[in-house]
Amino acid sequence: MSKMHIKMTVNGKPEEMLAEPRELLIYTLRERLNITGPHVGCETSHCGACTVEMDGKSVKACTVFAAQAHGAEITTVEGLGDPDNLHVLQRMFKEHHGLQCGYCTPGMITRAHRLLQENPNPTEEEVRFGMAGNLCRCTGYQNIVKSILAAAAEMNSAKEAAE
Ligand code: FES
Ligand code: FES
Repeated sequence: MSKMHIKMTVNGKPEEMLAEPRELLIYTLRERLNITGPHVGCETSHCGACTVEMDGKSVKACTVFAAQAHGAEITTVEGLGDPDNLHVLQRMFKEHHGLQCGYCTPGMITRAHRLLQENPNPTEEEVRFGMAGNLCRCTGYQNIVKSILAAAAEMNSAKEAAE
């Protein structure tokens, strides 16, 4: 099968590669680019462990071909913050015990980031609805929801203070 020349920007860094048309974006990220925040869980678009942002939308990287990401801007959990400068969502997941296992958390935080971009002041119900595509095998959703609501409150008060 002939390879395709693919370019994408990942966490602000331009990347290019030759990949087979069937290569999935999750493997491009994890195995070619060594970006291991997004995980492979179900590989069938159910669990959300592989969630990343692609051109400002949440996508499940196990159901996107690398070729479909040609020319796209991709953001993974690594692009939101780093250990010395955590994103407010990462901080709130830590403070409110939303950070449970390393498997589901990166996808949860990446999805929550997009959710708060689209709806900066969600109700609890809207958070639960918006996060419905991200599963926790332990069903420990309570603190995840609490963390996202706390992050929304902090982001909103920072915005008000800046106005
Ligand atoms: S691994 Fe992609 S949704 Fe589960
Ligand atoms: S805390 Fe990650 S699957 Fe439940």
